Formats: sequence, C-alpha cells, structure tokens
Amino acid sequence: MRRILVTGATGQIGSELVPALRKKYGGDNVIAAGHKRKPQQDFIQQGPYTTLDITKIDSLERVLQEYQVDTIFHLSALLSAVAEKNPQAAWEVNMGGLYNVLEISRKNSCAVFFPSSIGAFGPNTPRNNTPQDTIQRPNTMYGVCKVSGELLCNYYFTHFGVDTRGVRYPGLISYKTPPGGGTTDYAVDIFHHAIQEKEYASFLDQGTYLDMMYMPDAIRAAIELMEADQHQLKHRNAFNITAMSFAPEELAAQIKKYIPGFSISYQVDPVRQAIADSWPRHMDDSAARNEWGWKPAYNLEDMTKDMIERLSQKIDETL
Ligand code: SER
Repeated sequence: MRRILVTGATGQIGSELVPALRKKYGGDNVIAAGHKRKPQQDFIQQGPYTTLDITKIDSLERVLQEYQVDTIFHLSALLSAVAEKNPQAAWEVNMGGLYNVLEISRKNSCAVFFPSSIGAFGPNTPRNNTPQDTIQRPNTMYGVCKVSGELLCNYYFTHFGVDTRGVRYPGLISYKTPPGGGTTDYAVDIFHHAIQEKEYASFLDQGTYLDMMYMPDAIRAAIELMEADQHQLKHRNAFNITAMSFAPEELAAQIKKYIPGFSISYQVDPVRQAIADSWPRHMDDSAARNEWGWKPAYNLEDMTKDMIERLSQKIDETL
C-alpha cells in the first residue's frame, strides 16, 4: 500500500480510518473521497480530499489517474435501515459503486478492501456461533448487496487476480462521527442520550443480542487484513470478525456504572427489529484469528468506559 484511496471517507468508518492510514503511510499518500457530507477541517489540512460520485465510473477514473492510487478502501454505502427505505438507491450505490471500484481496480492493478457485514446473513443462518461458511440468504436490500459484494470480490480475485480482501463487520460503536441509518445504531445513540439526558428509548427490544465492535478495533482489523501475507488467506473477502455480543439491557447496565441515574425504556421499531432478528447473535471469527491473527482489544466494559469518557469530552467541547 503506497497510494491509498478511501471512498466514503466522511462516513462513520472513513472519518477514523483516514487519519489512521495517514499516520501510518503519510498524509499525502491517503486520498479521502467523500460525497455529500461536508468534510472535517483536518481532512483538508492533513492530506488530499476530493469529492467522488461512486456511481459514476468516470469520476473514479479521474481520481485514480490524478493520484496514482494502488489500494482502495471502498467504504461508500447506504446502511441497512436507509437501504430498506430506498432499495433502488441502495442497489445503485452499494452494488453499482462496488462494481465500479472492482472494474477500475482490474484495469489499474489496485488492491481492494470491501467491508461486508453481519447484514450479509439472514433468517435461515445459524444465529449462535455463526460459522464462517454457512447459509446466508439475507432478506434486506443491504444484505443482498453485501452477500453479492462478497461473491463479486471473490470473482474478481479468482478470474482477474484483483487482490480483494474484506471482513464482515458487526455493529460499530464510535464517538467521532455518528453512523447514519443502521440497525445497530442504537448502541451509539444510547451513549449520546445517556450523557445528555440520562435516559434512552431503545428502538431494539430487550434480549436482542447482536455482535458489536469498538471503532479502534474495526480500523485496526481493516489495516491488518490488508497488510497480511496473502498466502495465509483462504477466505480473503468476508472474514467474520467480532469483539463482543450484548443486548440493549446489558449495555444499559454497563452505562449505569458510570451514569447511575441512567434509565432505558423500549420503543421498538418493527422494521429495525425485524432486521436485527435476522442477523447473528454471535459470529464465530476463528477463521480471521487463524488466517491473519485477528484479536479484538476492547470488550463491553473497556468500550463503555472509553466511549463515556471521550464522548463526554467531545460534548463538553461543543457546548
Ligand atoms: N451496522 C450496520 C447496520 O446496522 C450493519 O453492518 O446497518
């Protein structure tokens, strides 16, 4: 990895991946590409920033030529709940965008990181210790795009030799940039409400267990996988990775340790609840552990403590 393009750079993952990559590979070598969301100041100050419409291959071609890119972290996507509201747009951005990235990478010999998700699984998938290789058959547009994306990345590797790699991320928890329109977002929203209002109405019900991960682990996973010796990789494109699995009431109990007056109630959103009920409770990530040494650093306790400290500080600074 010498010249890296990050699409979706102003999103939840991108806004933290870009600084991490710039620290490791040099500011000028990491091109942040966003679309609608306005970039933070440091994106412009610490390295190149460009706008990119991922659905237009010419737009991508222009950026690749201008910056001589050899690796793409392709993060642009609509999340699950938004994708259910507008499935046509989700197909265009999530699948059309990936197709463009793979085609351009085939022609320009770029390596590609593609984030798949717990959303690539469906109601027939075993929900406990979900195996690496199992029934997927998702029933959301987000999931259809993710599972198709996994297969398309495999195809571009086996047929064209494109160095495609990827993970199935669980719900990601972070304080820097809020996620937009996901099913696992309650686990981020809850911290904002707990700190500011001491109460939260969860849109997922009690007992809804889902895999989750703190953002520093998610960033490290992406970089470690792209740096791994490719001869060790048998799965390449869709490694299950997880760090913790919890239900809303368990997260609330952890938060209460730091904010004793905090209370949680439940106002279940049937659409997002149905999506969550079709996803794994806990994935088996042993393939990632064995093939490239994946190991999370943050469990529920560590993540909660760090989130509360850092988000409280961030909120204080903006007041
Ligand atoms: N966090 C995503 C969502 O909820 C799943 O990958 O849409």
